[in-house]
Amino acid sequence: MAESSWPPQPQLDEIRRVVSEMSGRGREEVRCAASPYRICPLGAHIDHQGGIVSAMTINKGILLGFVPSGDTQVILRSGQFKGEVRFRIDEVSCPMNNGNDASKRDEESDWGSYARGAVYALQSRKNCLVQGIIGYICGTEGMDSSGISSSAAVGVAYLMALENANNLIVSPEENIEYDRLIENEFRGLRNGILDQSAILLSSYGSLLCMNCKTKEHKLIHPPKLGKNHETEWQEAYKILLAFSGLKHALAENSGYNRRVGECQEAASVLLHASGNVAAEPVLSNVEPEAYQTHKHILESNLAKRAEHYFSENMRVIKGLEAWASGRFKDFGTLITESGLSSIQNYECGCKPLIQLREIVLKAPGVFGARFSGAGFRGCCVALVDANLAAEAASFVREEYNKLQPDLARQFNKEHAVVICEAGDCARVI
Ligand code: GLA
Repeated sequence: MAESSWPPQPQLDEIRRVVSEMSGRGREEVRCAASPYRICPLGAHIDHQGGIVSAMTINKGILLGFVPSGDTQVILRSGQFKGEVRFRIDEVSCPMNNGNDASKRDEESDWGSYARGAVYALQSRKNCLVQGIIGYICGTEGMDSSGISSSAAVGVAYLMALENANNLIVSPEENIEYDRLIENEFRGLRNGILDQSAILLSSYGSLLCMNCKTKEHKLIHPPKLGKNHETEWQEAYKILLAFSGLKHALAENSGYNRRVGECQEAASVLLHASGNVAAEPVLSNVEPEAYQTHKHILESNLAKRAEHYFSENMRVIKGLEAWASGRFKDFGTLITESGLSSIQNYECGCKPLIQLREIVLKAPGVFGARFSGAGFRGCCVALVDANLAAEAASFVREEYNKLQPDLARQFNKEHAVVICEAGDCARVI
């Protein structure tokens, strides 16, 4: 099977140089955790309710060069943020237990918290860490905090580096749970397991389908039509990312957790109405028939959140069939419908992102588009005809610049709209 084109060798060489300088060890001793960004074409905002989601990684992401520190120290530098993070693995405690308010955090000064969170997650599940790491972390230029889940990519990179340095053998499924602990327990974001599942379970060129309730998952390949499977799908579609210029960490934005709470309230009302009071109040515990029978009793906001959940699950199921038979245009139409439901029913997104989505949908060759991630910042993701991808990118760049010149000015030309390909799962190189 052909390999993903990421990470590029010159970037790996540069990271090895920096870590070698930081640690005084030889470049050949430096290992590198490569943790790709992810897209979720269908299945938005339903992972935290136990829904079925689709996802894949792209050929861009986070690289963490590291060496085992030889003692309990963790020493880190970042390509994106200033300063050096230093702590000992035996002095990490969970800030959420000390009344820390996630919405008051500042990304610039708080960037080391994912590394602390990874130590916390591993130790809280009784993994024995005897040494820390000396490391340098950097993302693909222009793509940090952009709705392609750089935070899960960062969390997974730290987990893998610490595990590797401590000779721990950990399965992708265990790492999905550890990254959940970093986000839910250590950082206080009530998100689901979509992001880290994509990062840990993807396989080049396939679409991952994850049932977030049962944790069952499978990889779906487009059909083989002729002799060369790889060139076939590479010629069929590309992934286009259009950046809005809005950047906020999700944990700083209370909107995300509020929506999760509303979905749970809706679930609670529906479960009570159907006599199922013992079940955990998440929408995946409500049978679709019970939803149809009782949805009229939901108050307007909660009715919209539930409608998003049940309609999005259906779109994922239809989308997986379309993908498996190579119907990328039909898959794209579902992405567009998913985006609309996020705006109308889930009521997330903000003006620049909604405008950007409309522009992307008018671009030549676009099969479908939605905003990526939670929709409170970041980018729009589109599936586009490979032959028209470059044309689509220049169209989006020009049109967004007309509507949001101040936001568009933050990018140089090649970072505003990026054409990507499918990626692989996270690994240590
Ligand atoms: C963020 C969260 C995910 C998921 C998406 C929306 O990326 O981290 O758990 O809810 O938003 O689909």
